[in-house]
Amino acid sequence: MFKLNALEKMTTEQKYAYALMMLEGQISSEKDIIANLANASAIVKVVMDRLNWAGFYLMRDGELVLGPFQGLPACNRIKLSAGVCGAAARERKTQLVPNVHEFPGHIACDVASNAELVVPIIKDGVVYGVLDLDSPEIGRFGELEAKYMEKFVAKLVAGMDWQ
Ligand code: SME
Repeated sequence: MFKLNALEKMTTEQKYAYALMMLEGQISSEKDIIANLANASAIVKVVMDRLNWAGFYLMRDGELVLGPFQGLPACNRIKLSAGVCGAAARERKTQLVPNVHEFPGHIACDVASNAELVVPIIKDGVVYGVLDLDSPEIGRFGELEAKYMEKFVAKLVAGMDWQ
């Protein structure tokens, strides 16, 4: 059970640590990938303020296809050559973008987005998708958010069968 009022007195870092704990509870009690990613996106959205979008794109036949998310309807498909998500999957590296308008090829699914953080989901050398976070606030994401979202994805990688 997610206790929303538990968040009220927490520091930012405590909230992110709480998200890891909630995710652990989720994936230890459920094996279905859709259920887990749906709740994972909800966990991120509720612990991290000033987000307008949080969700997953999953690798399907060489491109990224929209997965479970929280936010406004978004682009269905992203080629690996395009966008911040494509860059994360292609370069196999977290993309921390303080201002998306300065990122060549950024895809504006939601005009409210000004900053973006994308973490690739990689298991045994295979890219299975990305976790994508968007914020209306320029510079919203820093090293702390990148560090915790990488831990978050690492738990998803370790705790689920991605095949
Ligand atoms: N901005 C992303 C596209 C996905 S939406 O933000 C949900 C990108 O440039 O890849």
